[in-house]
Amino acid sequence: MSFKAALEADQEVPESWSSYMTTVYRSRKPPTIGSYDPDKLEAKAREVTKKNEAAFLYVFGSAGSCSTDRANRKAFERWYFTPKMLIDASDRNLETTLFGKKYRSPLLLAPIGVHGLLHPQGELCAATAANNMGVPMIMSTAATRSLEDAAKANGDGPRWYQLYWPRSEPLTLSLLSRAKACGYTACIITLDTMCMGWRPYDLDTAYLPFNHGIGIQVGTSDPVFMQSQGTTLRADEQSPYKGHEYDKIPYPFDPVACDFAREAGDEFHTSLKSLGRNWSRQIHSGLFRTWDEIAFVRKHWEGPLILKGILHVEDAVKAMKAGCDGVVVSNHGGRQVDGAIPALIALEKICDDPRVRRAQQEGNFTILFDSGIRRGSDILKAIALGAQAVLLGRPYMYGLAISGAQGIEEVVRGILCETELTLGLCGFNSLDEIWGKREKVMDKIELGFYN
Ligand code: FNR
Repeated sequence: MSFKAALEADQEVPESWSSYMTTVYRSRKPPTIGSYDPDKLEAKAREVTKKNEAAFLYVFGSAGSCSTDRANRKAFERWYFTPKMLIDASDRNLETTLFGKKYRSPLLLAPIGVHGLLHPQGELCAATAANNMGVPMIMSTAATRSLEDAAKANGDGPRWYQLYWPRSEPLTLSLLSRAKACGYTACIITLDTMCMGWRPYDLDTAYLPFNHGIGIQVGTSDPVFMQSQGTTLRADEQSPYKGHEYDKIPYPFDPVACDFAREAGDEFHTSLKSLGRNWSRQIHSGLFRTWDEIAFVRKHWEGPLILKGILHVEDAVKAMKAGCDGVVVSNHGGRQVDGAIPALIALEKICDDPRVRRAQQEGNFTILFDSGIRRGSDILKAIALGAQAVLLGRPYMYGLAISGAQGIEEVVRGILCETELTLGLCGFNSLDEIWGKREKVMDKIELGFYN
């Protein structure tokens, strides 16, 4: 029964993203994360990780003066909705089709490394939450769990894989074949991190988790990588690539304690450090790939192939020409280039290009977006500018820090509830009605952007 039919018949309405709000009011129990207000979420995550401040700052920090991160968020304030009245928006949904598959919403969990810094179960929480909600998780190459363990926790939920492109070809092929074998259906290659940006919050404490062997667990569960380190992985019942101890990273992760342990001759921490250094050499090697090399991954990945970190119109066109199925317009949350163009402004330019628009409309090219998504209204603005879906970044990491899988769910349910309510209150029932139709949905207000 449709929402409207249920209302007219005075019956219980079917579940939707917006029923989350009703559940909160009826239960009289506020979510553990509150109403997911981004500033309060950040403050609460900072509070619960106060004994582990460097870990929080690793997530919170951006490159240089953090100007790109600030500009990412500010860019959304240039756009304002113009809601229309007396339009029947009772039967709303946020359904979105990506690469031929229908999803319940236009939101995916962005690939974010080192979840284990903020929660002992690391990426397993995101995998579980994603399965509960039918929202795709994008598993990072810099994770603290193996691809296989995250896939198992994700069950039959949707999952994609993000590749940090190793130096070694056999290792690249091993990662791609493992991802395929355990059900990751799309591959995102992140292009903007060929080396890491200048990150003052981490430099001030000389803190990088990978150097202690944290966030290298996709590597320590890889037979090709471990063989290169002189270890042959044994299979066990749960996973074809286990039988080693490097997935047992300490929590809460205390870099000083790890340093002490190593200096005292602890073999586990000593080998973690050396594996960390060698894994970083593979995936953040400083080796800058070029456009002609995309053909290699294209040849070895049959599913949708997406390039992340695109900000320039011509790069989006090159991605099409290289046989990719889509791009993520993103500046990595401002963590790489200080002073980079706000991602939303890049999205506007890319979606205005007639070559890109045509390919999108013909169903041959998909534009995803991230960097600065904090509210339901941000999602709708990105869609109205032409994105087909968005990736949620730091907010779900703060939910993770506060209450694990439940915290991630509350953040996602909150943001999607607000998205659906805002869509209806503006006079629309579906995302198709607003996709790429900014002039129908919003006004642009230039004044004050630079104030
Ligand atoms: C990231 N991001 C990221 N991207 C990626 O492709 N692979 C990765 O492993 C990571 N790791 C990572 C760690 C942390 C702590 C953060 C905050 C971000 C970037 C991420 O996918 C996304 O682009 C940004 O998070 C978007 O910016 P906002 O919305 O979080 O500000």
